[in-house]
Amino acid sequence: MSATLTGITERVFAYRAPDPQLEVFEPPKDRAFFADPEKKALLAAAKQVRHLTPYIGTELIGVQLSQLNEAQKDELALLVAERGVVFFRNQDITLEQQHELTKHYGIQDRDPNQQDPRHVTIIGRDNDIRAYGDFAGEYHADHSHEANPPAYTMLRMVKTPEFGGDTIFTSQTALFDKLSPSFQKLFESLHGVHSSEHQFLASVNAGYQPFRAPQRREHPLVRTHPVTNLKSLFYNPMFVVHIAELKGQEAIHTLNFLREHLHAADDLTVRWKWEPGSVAFWDNRVVAHRALPGGYDTSLREGKRTAIFGEAPFFDPSSETLSERLKKGKDEQVGDETVKLHFSN
Ligand SMILES: [Fe+2]
Repeated sequence: MSATLTGITERVFAYRAPDPQLEVFEPPKDRAFFADPEKKALLAAAKQVRHLTPYIGTELIGVQLSQLNEAQKDELALLVAERGVVFFRNQDITLEQQHELTKHYGIQDRDPNQQDPRHVTIIGRDNDIRAYGDFAGEYHADHSHEANPPAYTMLRMVKTPEFGGDTIFTSQTALFDKLSPSFQKLFESLHGVHSSEHQFLASVNAGYQPFRAPQRREHPLVRTHPVTNLKSLFYNPMFVVHIAELKGQEAIHTLNFLREHLHAADDLTVRWKWEPGSVAFWDNRVVAHRALPGGYDTSLREGKRTAIFGEAPFFDPSSETLSERLKKGKDEQVGDETVKLHFSN
């Protein structure tokens, strides 16, 4: 991508997006609310449950997504909400079955650049992430600028290079928890301004036809997860361009801090190496992710992503940080390990 792709060119002036913006609405109740808190049916079906890091990421070994019953599907939503992202390998699920499975969790969402209404085709990229105006490899939550940004999001890889194209997922719940109480208090009072404008410009200038006009939208900088009732940051450097309550330089420095906080969080991160048939199922509300571009034949990477509408992001002051939840678990004599790995009450 070159810097010209960020500009307001003749092509941008001439372009009219065909579809209207989406209004905020209340989506169906999160399926995780219907799950057995112990997730017995799902976990019993796995040959192995492998927690990949303390804070984020679990791999379920020996489970086929195509074979899940209704109870197991709901329990998977809860596991994803708690662990941020759940991984699978060697899946036999077809695209049609992936569409059906996605529908179980809510109303199918559609990225503004998505041509097929049912899925996005994710491809390989060879961008220079250090180039001016190139944000393609940056951390983000998928189209967080929407009124109802996606909640559960699934990416199934059809083909992958032997190496390269890994995806990194970072827990925003843990990112918020690692801040000092003073910063936590300040950030709880702020709203991030999420913008799709630069992505829209890049998209039109590259010859694509986004079906919705660009938008700016304010969301709480700290949001509450409706299922776990935990606080998490709702920040990402791809789409958050300003902090609504701050003056210009205050916002710039705060955003720089947040970006460094996110990029320095190797301890709150899981890096996933894809194989054909691998699936990542993540909670886009509380996880930031980035796919690493370059260094491989990009024609060898292709995946199918589906997502559902989440609730309008909200902040509940009575919700808890991760540390408060862990402390409560200790006070209640619950094993530390259990609480750490399963955040719900
Ligand atoms: Fe993404």
